Amino acid sequence: MHNIKGFIFDLDGVLVDTAKYHYLAWRRLAEELNIDFSLRDNERLKGVSRMQSLEIILEIGNITLNDATKIELAQKKNNWYVEYISKLTPEDILPGVIGFLESVRDNGIKVALGSASKNSMLILDKLNLTNYFDAIIDGTKVSKAKPNPEVFLKGAEALNLLPNQCIVFEDAEAGVEAAINAGMYCIGIGSKDVLKKAHLVLSGFYNMTFDKLEL
Ligand code: BG6
Ligand code: MG
Repeated sequence: MHNIKGFIFDLDGVLVDTAKYHYLAWRRLAEELNIDFSLRDNERLKGVSRMQSLEIILEIGNITLNDATKIELAQKKNNWYVEYISKLTPEDILPGVIGFLESVRDNGIKVALGSASKNSMLILDKLNLTNYFDAIIDGTKVSKAKPNPEVFLKGAEALNLLPNQCIVFEDAEAGVEAAINAGMYCIGIGSKDVLKKAHLVLSGFYNMTFDKLEL
């Protein structure tokens, strides 16, 4: 891996722990629909788009709805979610992320965001992270959800790099699969038991620097 020139980061669960807010908002909606929605069910929503997340919840509750109602419910969930994340500050950035991003940039590596979230710009802004990125590909720029590789292929393209010149950092199974489908090396952030398909798994970025990756 001597030709690595770009790193592509997922947002939710990699740079910031927003999963808890997604969960709170989905659970609030599930309660309104009388659906029992557990933290374990929530794992299935990680990395998955907003509409697909709703589909999974409706499937759990065995409920069928028309498209207009689904759009309305997804909007309702998003309004709650945006209310929760409006309180985010740079202190919510996960441990070690800033140091890692700085060491990566100091080593001449280009940095992109590759997230399914349509709220990415808002979150990066709240965290004061926007300026660390050379390119931002978010949920407003892709039409195919992870595990489709679109988001990461667009990230590489925006950095003017080939897929095999990029490393993806992902916390979700669907995201790891998307990276592999893009032909990229994937570093999982989280647990080895969940992210079995990643090439390497780190528990997080605490004390992590570019040199320690030994590429
Ligand atoms: C991903 C999250 O990053 O973004 C998913 O892991 C979420 O849980 C998806 O559903 C879409 O996010 P948003 O903010 O556009 O609803
Ligand atoms: Mg994620």
